[in-house]
Amino acid sequence: MPSSVSGSGPFQSSKTRPETAPSRAIPGRFNEDMEGLVFRMHQMLIEELDADQISSMPPDERRRLVEQAAETLLRREVPNAGGITRDQIVGRVVDEVVGLGPIDAMIRDPSVSEVMVNAPGEVYFEREGIIYLSDIQFRDADHVQRIIERIVAPLGRRVDESSPMVDARLPDGSRVNVIIPPVSPKSPTITIRKFRSDKMTIEDLVAASTIEAEMAQFLKACVKLRLNTLISGGTGTGKTTFLNALSAYIPESERIITIEDPTELRLQQPHVVSLEARPPNIDGKGEITQRDLLRNSLRMRPDRIIIGEVRGPEAFDMLNAMNTGHEGSLSTVHANSPRDGLARVENMVMMANLDLPSHAIREQVASALHLIVQLARFTDGVRRVTHVTEITGMEGQIVTMQDLFVFKQIGVDAEGRILGHMTATGLRPSFAEKFTLAGIQLPDSVFLVKTGG
Ligand SMILES: Nc1ncnc2c1ncn2[C@@H]1O[C@H](COP(=O)(O)OP(=O)(O)O)[C@@H](O)[C@H]1O
Ligand SMILES: [Mg+2]
Repeated sequence: MPSSVSGSGPFQSSKTRPETAPSRAIPGRFNEDMEGLVFRMHQMLIEELDADQISSMPPDERRRLVEQAAETLLRREVPNAGGITRDQIVGRVVDEVVGLGPIDAMIRDPSVSEVMVNAPGEVYFEREGIIYLSDIQFRDADHVQRIIERIVAPLGRRVDESSPMVDARLPDGSRVNVIIPPVSPKSPTITIRKFRSDKMTIEDLVAASTIEAEMAQFLKACVKLRLNTLISGGTGTGKTTFLNALSAYIPESERIITIEDPTELRLQQPHVVSLEARPPNIDGKGEITQRDLLRNSLRMRPDRIIIGEVRGPEAFDMLNAMNTGHEGSLSTVHANSPRDGLARVENMVMMANLDLPSHAIREQVASALHLIVQLARFTDGVRRVTHVTEITGMEGQIVTMQDLFVFKQIGVDAEGRILGHMTATGLRPSFAEKFTLAGIQLPDSVFLVKTGG
C-alpha cells in the first residue's frame, strides 16, 4: 500500500478544499480541459456505438470494444495528444460509457476503502482510515444522477422522488447507498463501502495495532469456550472485519450458519451456510428479514449462528437462541460503548413488540450475552479495541459488567498519532476456570495490568 497519499493513482487528493476546479489542458486543443473533452467524446460515442449490442456483451469484452472506439475517436479529434494524456482520456471516456464515470478509478483502486459523493464537486474517499477530499468533479447533479441510475438499474431498482433512498450492491460486492433530492436537497449523494476480498486476519489486526497479541489469545480461547460475543462500535470502526477474523477460531468440525443483510463475511471454514436478507420488491412484496432467516436457521441444525449485525427485532430471537443451547454465537452491534451496546440490544428486543417488561428483557440480555468487544476509530485513523467487557449478571434493575481489558490513551504525538496501550484491568473473568476445564491454556500474564509500552 502506498505510504504517501496525495498524487498517487489516477485521482489527486487534498486535505483542503481546492480553490478552483482542476482543469488539465489538452495538448493540441487550446483551452479545452480534459473533462470537457471526455464529455464531448462520450456524446459522440453514444451516437456511434450500438447500445443494445454493447449491453449484451460480457463486461471485459464491452470495455475492450469501447476502448478501441475511444482510441480511434481520439486519434481523429486530437491527433497530437501525448501518451499519458491519451491513456487518461481514453480511460475516462470508457469509464463514462461503461463504468461509474469519474469515480470508477477510485472504485478500482484497492487502497481506497470508501467513496463518498456529497455533491458534483465534492467527492471524498477514505484510505487507511483517513478521509480525503479528491479533485474529482462531476459536471453537475444530472451527471451524478446518471451514474446512480447505472448502479441501480441492473438490480431492477429505481431511484426517484417517490423512493429517494436506495441500497444497492456493485457486481464486485461493494455496498452502495444512494439518496437524492428532495431528501438530500443539495445534490444526489452516493456512499460506496468497498468490498474487500482480502479479509484481515487476527494477525493483521495485531499488526495494525487494533488489538494486542495476548488479548487476541484470550479472545481465541473465548471463541473456543463458546462464549456469546457481541462486537460493538460505530460505523466503519471495523466490526465486521473483526468478527470475520474472530470467526477463524471456530473449529472446522462445526456447522456454521451466517445471517447477513447484505453478505460481507468470508468465513474460512468449509462447512458454512450463508443466508442473506432480501428487501421487498418494487411492489413491496417478497421481503425476507434477518429475523425470518434467524428463525429458519434454528431448524437447520446450527452449531454456531453468526449474525453479521443485529439491527432490529431479530435481537429477540438471537437472545433466545443464545439462551437455549446455541452458545458461541457471534454478532456485531452499532454502539459507542459496551453499556450503549446493551441498551441497543434491549431497544431492539422492544422492537419485536412483545410487550415484555424491561426487567425481563434485561434478564434475557444478562443471561444470553457473555462478552462485548468495543471498537473505536481514533483520530489517527487506527481502529482499536477500547474495551473487552464481561457481562456478569444483574443487580436490581441493572445488567452488571466488568471491563477485562481496556485501551489507555496517554497522549498524542507531534504527528497526531495516538499514544497509549492496551492492558488487562486485573479483574479475572468469572469464566476463567472454564478455560482450564476445557483444556485451554492461557499464560498468567494475560490478566496482569500493564503500564506503558
Ligand atoms: N482493524 C482495522 N485496521 C485497519 N482497517 C480496518 C480495520 N478494520 C476494518 N478496516 C477497514 O475499514 C473499513 C470498514 O470496516 P468494517 O469492518 O466494514 O466496519 P464496520 O463493520 O464497523 O462498519 C473496511 O474498508 C476495512 O477494510
Ligand atoms: Mg459492518
